[in-house]
Amino acid sequence: MHLKVKSGSGEEARKKLISEGVLDKARKIQKTDGYLLIPVTRAADYPGAELVNLEGKAAKRKSASLRETLEGRLSAEELAHLPNAFDIIGDIAVLEIPKELSAKKKIIGEALLETFKNLKVAANKTTSVGTEYRTRNVEVIAGEKRTETTHREYGCEYKLDITTSYFSPRLGTERMRVAKQVKPGERVLVMFAGIGPYAILIAKTARPKEVYAVELNPSAVEYMKENIRLNKADVKAVLGDAGAEAGKYGKFDRIIMPLPKDAGNFLDKALPALKKGGVIHYYTFAGTTEEAAQEVKNICSKLGHKIEVLDAVECGTYSPQLSRMCVDYKLIK
Ligand SMILES: C[S@@+](CC[C@H](N)C(=O)[O-])C[C@H]1O[C@@H](n2cnc3c(N)ncnc32)[C@H](O)[C@@H]1O
Repeated sequence: MHLKVKSGSGEEARKKLISEGVLDKARKIQKTDGYLLIPVTRAADYPGAELVNLEGKAAKRKSASLRETLEGRLSAEELAHLPNAFDIIGDIAVLEIPKELSAKKKIIGEALLETFKNLKVAANKTTSVGTEYRTRNVEVIAGEKRTETTHREYGCEYKLDITTSYFSPRLGTERMRVAKQVKPGERVLVMFAGIGPYAILIAKTARPKEVYAVELNPSAVEYMKENIRLNKADVKAVLGDAGAEAGKYGKFDRIIMPLPKDAGNFLDKALPALKKGGVIHYYTFAGTTEEAAQEVKNICSKLGHKIEVLDAVECGTYSPQLSRMCVDYKLIK
């Protein structure tokens, strides 16, 4: 069934049909001299339009969007506040719903799970990452009442509870960038290792001699140990303070320091654990890659070292002014 409306009223009629939930999205809107034939799922009306019986043509499958699902369920003003993106960790979607939409969070969560059938939980961030363990609180707003999931990335599986351990799916490409640099036979230390994504990816995709992964958060370490088993990865998980542990396991060819807010305070412990010619991957928040490189040079200079910056890359946003940067460097003195 189609509603035949004058072309000039087509957009207004389409919006009315969407708001009434009768637009048939599985079929195409067709043009016929001066009129539009808008497919509807049941009888509907619009001033000056007539219903016509016609089978219609199948619409091309557009990729689903949360905004589209919510059209007609939220007002245009509410839709304008809808977040443009959300994180997907395993089968959990993590959104940051603004206060203007807090009364609609259940509707938004349900629409999200309706749109993306592979997602089973919709969660809303209630605090931002700020604790020592870099965890955040979330509330489940739709779907199964759980915060544990398994995330898959580059052929590895990571089990975690998103409320007790830090994990960012946005850093997958950066982890691979670092893993690709690991040469066969290297000894690698991952400080601030979380649930193990750097260490496990390196153990599985490169051919290191040994990988040590140090993490302070007991829950993250439990998940890391489980992830090491799940992925059959050869990684030594250590529960403890990365500064205190760095010097206990011999010298390393490569040290990864993914603690952007604080890595600078651990360089005095990391540098003595680096072999001559070894490489550090140092993370920080900075406005430009040049600023990030300068920060490392200044800290290392105070510690009596000159460095050679091999690369400095932007690998994520942090705030309008700051990005997450990684500086790859080695000591030259
Ligand atoms: C930004 S997260 C990175 C986690 C992981 N590398 C990843 O990419 O998913 C930083 C991690 O450092 C841990 N951490 C903070 N201070 C630490 C310390 N002094 N020693 C060891 N780990 C620490 C936190 O618990 C958190 O898991």
